[in-house]
Amino acid sequence: MILVGFMGSGKTTIGKNIAEELNKAFVDLDGFIVNEYQMSIPEIFNEYGENGFREREFEALNKVIKSDAIISTGGGIVTYQKSYNLLMNTESNIIYLDTPFEVAYNRIKNDRNRPLTNFNKSDLDDIYKKRRPLYEELTDYTINGCDSVNEIIHNILMHKK
Ligand code: S3P
Repeated sequence: MILVGFMGSGKTTIGKNIAEELNKAFVDLDGFIVNEYQMSIPEIFNEYGENGFREREFEALNKVIKSDAIISTGGGIVTYQKSYNLLMNTESNIIYLDTPFEVAYNRIKNDRNRPLTNFNKSDLDDIYKKRRPLYEELTDYTINGCDSVNEIIHNILMHKK
């Protein structure tokens, strides 16, 4: 199962809980990349640019996508064609955690570990609007990110393939 959605939509929290419920491994793709390169996400952005990060993100996804793990992806993964294609063609269940922009924004706005929070609110809102249809195209099932964690987990477990 692969969780997609904007930054701050709750993918990591939900992914960890689902993995626990299903007794499966959990992979947070950002964490996987940080571990692999021994660099923080902002360091990777600074050193290789966003495109360099996206390529590394694609490679990480490619490594774990065939595993049985519950995978939480970074919010921008859908913007990179190679990653998008991989997600489009996977047999895995893709779940979109659909959280309103205001809610997600309030969770991420002060997080210096997310390079995109350097953008102002209105630019981030534009990014959110551009990405939304991409998540919608890829998903097998959309979850309302405003529900409680328990409701979300219950909902996912009911609808997973
Ligand atoms: C990004 C989202 C982040 C991380 C990086 C870029 C994005 O992951 O991959 O900071 O472009 O939306 P989260 O969605 O887990 O915050």
